[in-house]
Amino acid sequence: MKGNPGGAGVMIRFDGVHKEYADGTVAVNELSFDVTEGELCVLVGPSGCGKTTTMRLVNRLTEPTRGAVFLDGQDVGGIDAVQLRRRIGYVIQHGGLFPHRTVADNVGTVPSLLGWDRQRIRSRVGELLELVGLDPALHARRYPHELSGGQRQRVGVARALGADPVVLLMDEPFSAVDPVARKRLQAEFLRLQAEVGRTVLFVTHDIDEAIHLGDRVAVFSQGGKLEQLDTPASVLGAPASEFVADFVGTDRGVKRLDVTPIDPSDLDAVGPAGPTPPSSLTVPATASLGAAMSAILSADSGRVGVKDGNGAVIGTLGADGVHRQLRRSVRDGAAPVSTPRVPPN
Ligand SMILES: Nc1ncnc2c1ncn2[C@@H]1O[C@H](COP(=O)(O)OP(=O)(O)OP(=O)(O)O)[C@@H](O)[C@H]1O
Ligand SMILES: [Mg+2]
Repeated sequence: MKGNPGGAGVMIRFDGVHKEYADGTVAVNELSFDVTEGELCVLVGPSGCGKTTTMRLVNRLTEPTRGAVFLDGQDVGGIDAVQLRRRIGYVIQHGGLFPHRTVADNVGTVPSLLGWDRQRIRSRVGELLELVGLDPALHARRYPHELSGGQRQRVGVARALGADPVVLLMDEPFSAVDPVARKRLQAEFLRLQAEVGRTVLFVTHDIDEAIHLGDRVAVFSQGGKLEQLDTPASVLGAPASEFVADFVGTDRGVKRLDVTPIDPSDLDAVGPAGPTPPSSLTVPATASLGAAMSAILSADSGRVGVKDGNGAVIGTLGADGVHRQLRRSVRDGAAPVSTPRVPPN
């Protein structure tokens, strides 16, 4: 029986979790929140705020001082640590690969521990390398030092997916590569996640990465305090505290544009009642306000058409309309969660 304590769909639950190290350092402070099945939840915050500790509580590399972490309804404290870790993929900076093993052996680590036969391991390894964009014929026999930093990260992700884990823990997986490679890894990872749909807990100290990747973003401050847990648009549009406002940056208005979709029910008129844009200056109704704003700024008229799925222009937007929609998206949106909800039991 799965028996999620809070109903279907909860994959990871932090229930009043507190972690104090022996020297009195509080790394995680009375933490309660849920990560839904299939969700990509990003933990973000300054160095030392407890992100890594929070993550390591899930696979029992760290034990809580009090409280409990549930994985798919089961208290992880009651699961054998080795068994538990086989169900959880773990990716760290630099990939954390075994340097003296080939790429194929690294990726096949968990299947091999599980006693799969060689043929099955080999085909799984090939499948995983292709999934992360590496050519098995070219890369499988190489050693980690014969790869680029970005390739090592890809192998790290492939290895974490080895035995089809229910949860992926990723601790600053892309922070050791240069900004260009990093952007590409992020894009690939989003594509991969769309395909495999794992529950992911992803740690970064980069707010832009958090906003770009997260379905929800958890912002932590020093002492392991969860300041806010919400969608990227809400964290940017309605920061729950001074700390969050400061952390997301003074350019949060601009960042919000990219994570807020156009509202097709709130466009300006087309035709006689309003200025009609030439057909080249249009954006799809499914685009972000950022895409609309970018087109508006390059349009002589300062206005773009918004078209529906059939290509018909259903309205227009200018800078004033983008501003109006952005303000309304926060006012009408779900109330931001400024304190984590306490689980019912
Ligand atoms: N084994 C330990 N013993 C004592 N204190 C520790 C231990 N591990 C971590 N800490 C402390 O707990 C706090 C949280 O550390 P943690 O590694 O979780 O932070 P983090 O948010 O991952 O930081 P970073 O962004 O630098 O990786 C820090 O103050 C750290 O010094
Ligand atoms: Mg860390």
